Amino acid sequence: MDKNAIEQAILAMARDPELLEQVKAQSSRAPELVGVDQEWAETILSGNRDRLRAIGLNDGLTILVSRWFNDDLGDAASQGGFLVDDSQPLPNPDVPTGVVFAGGCSHVPDLLARPEIDPPDAVARLLDGYDRLKRDIAAADPDVILVTADCHFQSFATGHTVIGTGAGHLGSMEFFKRGDLDLSLTGRPDFARELAAAVRGAGLEVEEADRVDLDHGLIVPLRLLLPRPDLPVIPIITQPHRSFSPFNARRFGEALRGVVAESGLKVAFLATGGLSHWLDPGHFGGVDVEFDTYILKLLETGRGLDLCSLEPYPLLAHGQYEIQNWMIMLGLIGPGVHGDVYTYEPMEASGGGWTVVAMDLARARAERSAAVGAGAS
Ligand SMILES: [Fe+2]
Repeated sequence: MDKNAIEQAILAMARDPELLEQVKAQSSRAPELVGVDQEWAETILSGNRDRLRAIGLNDGLTILVSRWFNDDLGDAASQGGFLVDDSQPLPNPDVPTGVVFAGGCSHVPDLLARPEIDPPDAVARLLDGYDRLKRDIAAADPDVILVTADCHFQSFATGHTVIGTGAGHLGSMEFFKRGDLDLSLTGRPDFARELAAAVRGAGLEVEEADRVDLDHGLIVPLRLLLPRPDLPVIPIITQPHRSFSPFNARRFGEALRGVVAESGLKVAFLATGGLSHWLDPGHFGGVDVEFDTYILKLLETGRGLDLCSLEPYPLLAHGQYEIQNWMIMLGLIGPGVHGDVYTYEPMEASGGGWTVVAMDLARARAERSAAVGAGAS
């Protein structure tokens, strides 16, 4: 059942109380009356907002089905649970030509600055995950790597996502008493400006910055993962404290698809950050294993883009302050790509649920070829 058909059915019943009563009286007639099958009609009529949210309908729309369709003033039919709804068929993958690697990992500073605060076995498993990812990136042999992180200490002119257009990028982990953990990267100004132009061309805001001072957001993952020191890196820095928008993050990634495909370059994309953690006073140290597990299951089942349909409230409430960084990557590679979770470690001392994930582009391309061979587009 198509998500848009379900949305249209809700709107049709919201506009027409008689139609709503007809469907309520005889849900078996839902296909002819509102264009959805009986099961989905009953999901709507039961006020099951959790399932409707799971397929990407926004909360402002689905509150109609409980508080107005059923006059359930307490919105009692939904538990607020997060479901991975696999009743919808996965779209055919369509990874842009030129993308040779996509994945994500955390960038927790303690992992390099003071790993002794966390359990040694968990630290070892996490580092093993980075080792696997490093081998993947090296095997992909990219010409350039785009890396997302969120703004921690830099000060940019706008609240938009920033693309680093400098010829080089420098920084150290001096703020974490470890100025010795430094990094000097080569940039790729021409391609960075092309990326920014593509984002602008898609109607989105973007800030080009010649100077992006490196902090742990790039230093931690790239000290662990960069296959060679001269591999050009383009930093993409989100600013969740100024502009948190899952929708725009996905669109940002999608806007890069054409320019990446046409670049002739082998492009790697590494998303960094998260999963759950809270920076705000009074909340640091929590880990939301249940929500992190939900995200990882979405990634594993090829439904990562469904995350981008969620509103800011649930994401921020569950500590997903940095998830936009991953959504840009997901927007770039498109739907139906399965993630391989190399490791997930909830670590309270360093304050979050840390993970390493590789997106299986080879499988996606094979599935795409099979679908095209079978006559799909
Ligand atoms: Fe961070």
